[in-house]
Amino acid sequence: MASAAERLSGLRIGGENWASEVPNLQLNLNILSPDQIELAKMLLQEGQGHLFAHWAEPGVDDDKKKNFFDQVLRLRDHYPGGLTAYIQNARRLLADSRAGKNPFEGFIPSVPSGEDLKFGDDNFVKLEEEGVKEAKKAAFVLVAGGLGERLGYKGIKVALPSESTTGTCFLQHYIECILALQEASHGGSNEIPLVIMTSDDTHMPITRLLESNSYFGMQPGQVKLLKQEKVACLDDNDARIALEPNDKYKIQTKPHGHGDVHALLYKSGLLKIWHDAGLNWVIFFQDTNGLLFKAIPASLGVSVTKGYHVNSLAVPRKAKEAIGGITKLTHADGRSMVINVEYNQLDPLLRATGHVDGDVNCETGYSPFPGNINQLILQLGPYIEELTKTHGAIAEFVNPKYKDSTKSSFKSSTRLECMMQDYPKTLPPTARVGFTVMDTWLAYAPVKNNPEDAAKVPKGNPYHSATSGEMAIYKANSLILRKAGVQVADPENAVFNGQEVEVWPRITWKPKWALTFSDVKKKVKEECSISQRSTMVINGENICLKGLSLNGTLLVNAINEAEVLVIGSIQNEGWVVKPIDYKDFSFAEQNRIRGFVIEKLEQFELNYSEPGK
Ligand code: UTP
Repeated sequence: MASAAERLSGLRIGGENWASEVPNLQLNLNILSPDQIELAKMLLQEGQGHLFAHWAEPGVDDDKKKNFFDQVLRLRDHYPGGLTAYIQNARRLLADSRAGKNPFEGFIPSVPSGEDLKFGDDNFVKLEEEGVKEAKKAAFVLVAGGLGERLGYKGIKVALPSESTTGTCFLQHYIECILALQEASHGGSNEIPLVIMTSDDTHMPITRLLESNSYFGMQPGQVKLLKQEKVACLDDNDARIALEPNDKYKIQTKPHGHGDVHALLYKSGLLKIWHDAGLNWVIFFQDTNGLLFKAIPASLGVSVTKGYHVNSLAVPRKAKEAIGGITKLTHADGRSMVINVEYNQLDPLLRATGHVDGDVNCETGYSPFPGNINQLILQLGPYIEELTKTHGAIAEFVNPKYKDSTKSSFKSSTRLECMMQDYPKTLPPTARVGFTVMDTWLAYAPVKNNPEDAAKVPKGNPYHSATSGEMAIYKANSLILRKAGVQVADPENAVFNGQEVEVWPRITWKPKWALTFSDVKKKVKEECSISQRSTMVINGENICLKGLSLNGTLLVNAINEAEVLVIGSIQNEGWVVKPIDYKDFSFAEQNRIRGFVIEKLEQFELNYSEPGK
């Protein structure tokens, strides 16, 4: 018996009887508008007649039928090339997947060239200075449309506290960093734009978070939200579109991945506006990396000095670590690209191309392929040029879970996906694509995993949990102060939610206090010391530490016009990191997922709300 696709491919779509193969659709033709009829023809032409198989006679469920076509229209309009292109791409990628085709067939991997930075040395300081100067020509793009299934948090990830000492959420922290860069870059005279890519799952909560907090200090017009749409799910290798199990008039949809950000930016017209306003850089970042902005100034400095069209931020990567490796791929036919290769593809690719040991560490103790952390700095001019050609379409992939080795059916529906970091795949070999490697402690501590999964992470691998994400912020701040000459005590080890972490003194500062290492050095004057049990919160621009000896909790709040010098010895009961059980529902979810709360016993608090010294 012929398959539905085969039968329908024989349809004479232009003829009068074009719908006769699908009687339930034929019955309903009279209630459809000319536009809806065109959409139905397109679906039939693409082998999607099954979508109408269960349709009721005219007069029954007519509203649902109208909603169905509204959804088809949305799916068509939000995909470069429309739904036809989506289905055809899906068939091709599903056939490749079934055949086990190697996406890197014919490519030889090699280590690309990039910049390896050492925190705090002269080169780093110079690059940070360069980056801060250039920040006035940057626009920031936060991709925040993800579901966060692995974390399993009920709310949106950007509303989670990045650390619980001050409770500052990720979005507030990001905005304050951008505002501090704006101020440091050119005295704040021009607004640095922030775009947030949302999805149906995150759009309303992000809007509410911004509105109920006065945009955390940004001008409302400075922040633009672009909502990504989901794509149709597919039931089989013929790319037959899946319907919702409980609503046969609704197409099942799933997220298309963060690669959508390029098409959305292209369509929004913002790139041209930015270009006309003299901007030069677009900086892409993700929802839960509390360290990222410590790496931004120097990385932007690298983009400027190297003239990179694409600069991927990276960290040293242990061989086989579950993080993509930045790799140069060269084809015999002359094609070449510098691209993220997922960790599960890197080892087979190396073995297949003469590296008998596959993905192994080199003499540095790390893989020679830097670990991609998916924060990108793109040069605006070449970016616009490329998107004018591609309209923002990004190489897609499909990852069906097959029922068995025949690969003829799926366990559940699948869909096409795309990733933001695959942007360089279509670039010409002349494009300047590089990377910037920084220490992990400085640049990367995402919050992705729920406590149970994090506790199962093999020893030595990062947990990427709310627990580790918060502890990483204290560690980074402690190490930065150490490098600036402060005697910061060693950490103590502790276990929260089954994860062993280092607990450093809980040191936090607002970005306006220090964006760069030079800022920190300027504000830490003479020998200071901070014990492991201490907490220090610096909330103000002109606060200097001089000969401070801290053993407890110190909070300093000052308006920008108040110059504060903190001197002397402070000793009190302080704030304690108290373990809690993540299954103890008497605590808020945001605390449970990190496995501790901050118990505030005693603190020394200084508040300066009047200008002066
Ligand atoms: P993640 O890989 O962390 O995915 O996304 P996720 O969807 O948030 O979480 P899981 O996989 O369900 O656990 C990396 C970044 O890309 C964004 C996320 O919000 C995060 O900042 N993202 C992801 C999007 O903006 N859209 C998407 O479709 C997927």
